[in-house]
Amino acid sequence: MAGNIFGELFRVVTFGESHGPAMGCVIDGCPAGLSLTKAAIERELRRRRPGRGGASSARNETDEPEILSGVFEGKTLGTPIAIVVRNSDHHSGDYEDLRDLYRPGHADLTWEAKYGIRDHRGGGRSSGRETLCRVAAGAVARAFLAGYGISIRAWVSSIAGLDMPGPEAPDFDFDETERNALRVPGREAAEKALAEIEALKAEGDSAGGVVSCSAAGLPPGLGEPVFDKLDARLASALLSLGACKGVEFGAGFAAARLRGSEHNDVPVFLAEAGAGALPPGFKTNNAGGILGGISSGQRLEFKAAFKPTPSISKPQQTVDRSGALRELIIRGRHDVCIVPRAVPVVEAMTALVLADFVLLQRAARIG
Ligand SMILES: Cc1cc2nc3c(=O)[nH]c(=O)nc-3n(C[C@H](O)[C@H](O)[C@H](O)COP(=O)(O)O)c2cc1C
Repeated sequence: MAGNIFGELFRVVTFGESHGPAMGCVIDGCPAGLSLTKAAIERELRRRRPGRGGASSARNETDEPEILSGVFEGKTLGTPIAIVVRNSDHHSGDYEDLRDLYRPGHADLTWEAKYGIRDHRGGGRSSGRETLCRVAAGAVARAFLAGYGISIRAWVSSIAGLDMPGPEAPDFDFDETERNALRVPGREAAEKALAEIEALKAEGDSAGGVVSCSAAGLPPGLGEPVFDKLDARLASALLSLGACKGVEFGAGFAAARLRGSEHNDVPVFLAEAGAGALPPGFKTNNAGGILGGISSGQRLEFKAAFKPTPSISKPQQTVDRSGALRELIIRGRHDVCIVPRAVPVVEAMTALVLADFVLLQRAARIG
């Protein structure tokens, strides 16, 4: 099976199926001497875990990481870092019906068409649980980026068709995202969205939404033109997430309706940077912090759109292996909306891309 390795210098391979004994990752290329604790990985895994209530599934995993190699006395050795997490709360029996049936909207049908065999229990590797490997690796990348003053934060900006307060709104409260189950930046907005999610849950249905992400402290110069542009690699990283269906940077799709004079971010002199400094400041950030595939030194700003969870408990029509029409009632524990849990996953993928480009930039020029 191809496609399990990510990155060029900061490389990650992930492994494991949702209902197998364990899942994990091996990171190759993390420089030696980085302070890394199990607690830093645990913290990120806890943020991804189901069971925050509201939109989340009831699967109750401890998600305790075990660092098997690459770290000695709290510092990375420069050798492969292997992290494993045991699966402990899988109810594989819930998925027995899916041995011969294909869930609409999920990957069951295409996996079987491709490989001729699939692990039907919990979706195997196409399960949302696969993202825990990315979050574990992302925690290491975040620790590396912190040394460069780069920080990443994401939040739910739209859920179940409701738009949440944006950073420019007076009621935008980022701290609230770690307090409410939906990772929404505002208490009132979270309550409204939760009511919508509860109604969908009662109907046995699901919803999608949008994750907004912003990274601060990026130096200018990250991104490798022409095929490995920063936006191209980020888009690829995000679209590799199950259920992610669109990515937009800065003004995004709205840019298609603007004039050049409206959309261009005008460079301005920054007194503190001094005349002739590169990069200068900019009046606006419609580009989302990327020009020509290279970070401009502004904040990186993008959004990722997620479709509704495909596994819904409402009866649906499908076909079985023989092609006969069948009614499907999905059991198992699924998120009504995966978007709140996608927040730390989006941050992790961003961290992996940025860590890779920070290392690549060190090879890009002399002086
Ligand atoms: C964090 C996360 C959690 C997910 N949880 C579920 C889930 O509980 N049930 C489900 O049917 N799909 C879930 N998904 C979505 C499926 O993985 C995805 O829809 C499936 O692999 C098909 O891929 P596609 O939607 O990109 O075509 C989750 C995705 C992510 C990123």
